[in-house]
Amino acid sequence: MAGRIPRDFIDDLIARSDVVEIVDSRVKLKKAGKNYQACCPFHSEKSPSFTVSQDKQFYHCFGCGAHGNVISFLMEYDRLEFPEAVEELARYHSIDVPREKDSGPSFSPAQKQQREDDYELLEKVARFFAHQLKHHPKSANAIEYLKNRGLSGDVVKNFGIGFAPPEWDGALKQFSKDSDSQQQLLDLKIITENDNGKRFDFFRDRIMFPIRDKRGRVIGFGGRVLENSDGPKYLNSPETRVFHKGNELYGFYQAKQANRTLHRTLIVEGYMDVVALAQFDINYAVASLGTATTAEHIQTLFRAAPQIICCYDGDRAGRDAAWRALNNALPYLKDGVEMKFLFLPDGEDPDTLVRQIGKEAFEEKLNTDAVPLSQFLFDTLLKTHHVGSDEGKAALRTEIDPLLAQIPGENQKELLELKATKLTGISRSQAQVKQTKVDNSQEFSQPNKHKQTHIQTMLRLLLEQPMLASQCPEVVPSLLDSRLFPGLSFLQEVHEYCLLKSNRTSGQIIEHFREHQNYKALAKLAIHDLSNNSDDLNEFINANKITEFKDTFTRMVDKQIASRIDELQTKSAFNKLSEQELQEFMLLLKERDV
Ligand code: UTP
Ligand code: MN
Repeated sequence: MAGRIPRDFIDDLIARSDVVEIVDSRVKLKKAGKNYQACCPFHSEKSPSFTVSQDKQFYHCFGCGAHGNVISFLMEYDRLEFPEAVEELARYHSIDVPREKDSGPSFSPAQKQQREDDYELLEKVARFFAHQLKHHPKSANAIEYLKNRGLSGDVVKNFGIGFAPPEWDGALKQFSKDSDSQQQLLDLKIITENDNGKRFDFFRDRIMFPIRDKRGRVIGFGGRVLENSDGPKYLNSPETRVFHKGNELYGFYQAKQANRTLHRTLIVEGYMDVVALAQFDINYAVASLGTATTAEHIQTLFRAAPQIICCYDGDRAGRDAAWRALNNALPYLKDGVEMKFLFLPDGEDPDTLVRQIGKEAFEEKLNTDAVPLSQFLFDTLLKTHHVGSDEGKAALRTEIDPLLAQIPGENQKELLELKATKLTGISRSQAQVKQTKVDNSQEFSQPNKHKQTHIQTMLRLLLEQPMLASQCPEVVPSLLDSRLFPGLSFLQEVHEYCLLKSNRTSGQIIEHFREHQNYKALAKLAIHDLSNNSDDLNEFINANKITEFKDTFTRMVDKQIASRIDELQTKSAFNKLSEQELQEFMLLLKERDV
């Protein structure tokens, strides 16, 4: 595991990056007033509503609502995880990403070099296998086999499918120059060693499927026997220093390459399924590599597209696999994403089915036959619990509670909760529901979308003009009472950060809070100020912001005074106020009336 990337490094990296430059290298931007515009890369549109602000170092699409800073853009556009986006940006500036020491071993320069060498070697090995498919004297069987399976030349090329020759030392001879390079082949399990220390090719006489990571680097292989051969049907690279099965999905890189925007992904069981579907232009299928669908897989796929359809056998094993996938998916079910399950008829897999019925009918099946997660969840639970009896109802309720508790999407959770209540007659009390809500996040956004709370106004102003913190020393959020202003402690954090770093842009500030539970809400507040004004007008507006910032704070103080007065008054109706309280009361009245 690589260590964490230090915050300071990320801050600096963003400071030296220009969101306009990075976006422009991927989506051609046009200057429009102070800002830059393009047709949004995240949804389809005819007139540009995607706006990038150089001042704020922030982008926003007025059409689909996509927004964020340069890192967010790389994450969304290149579909990278956060650390990968940082790596990408660092590479753009030709600098290395440091890793913190304490949170797991970090890579030394030598280890990094090793990795680069590993990827390079694996790429060469993949090309070697592809070359053997065309040129090896004994490749006729392999070509014949692929033809029989109906694979087109295009798809073979696109997925880099190859042939491991039957001899014991094909790859060994080709790639081992000295003892170091032979050790590397062994480490990467291109070759293997028997008890007598004899070394030979790991894959022999097999159809080879190179496995690529999210960034397209070859990290391992799957190899299928030809018909009538012995040994296991599929042989996969074992775990190595670059290959970790639980994180990787076969076909994911190709799916990202084939689709500008992925609307959904399909999880299937085998290499052949991914490849066959792609051949039929269903190029959004991925396969886990002989493992169950893991939480990492699901997280990766939901990052890429809001819908996942799990496509499994209709038999017992398929349903078990689906149930495991469901369990792993629960913590990622935010509102706005969806998981569905398609169970295939007996004896069919996506490969055979799509060849039989074609693209259109297959997609029709996906659209109409895939059952929503909620249905699969209750169907499964109802198979084990007979809700005809109180005991059955109680048992179902007991089993479903911890499942629902994992779902972060409030609306999804509530709908499932309603269904559970209906089935069992037992409802979870409002208090319990509320309790979990408060625990999950310290909300400062209010249900009323159109009116900002004072806290939101202050945060927005700080994002728009971080200098406000130092320009208005009389504004001291720590004087306020957090019971009156939900989200106050977050405002304090942001305020403090702006005091410390007053020359920051919105893009930098939100980056600093990326891992904060209020990150999303904060990023949203930044989109209010992407107006396209002249410098003169902006100067005027900025002066107004100082006033608005101070006024808002004053109103908060007033609210606090009024509330404390109220509190003391109420108290005095029951108890005599202490001398101290009485003094405070008089002072407050005076404050209020000035
Ligand atoms: P299947 O046996 O369903 O194979 O295994 P398939 O994809 O339909 O293959 P074809 O159509 O016969 O060529 C599904 C997946 O399980 C893993 C592989 O990842 C395979 O793609 N598997 C299967 C193994 O790892 N080893 C095996 O021996 C068999
Ligand atoms: Mn198959």
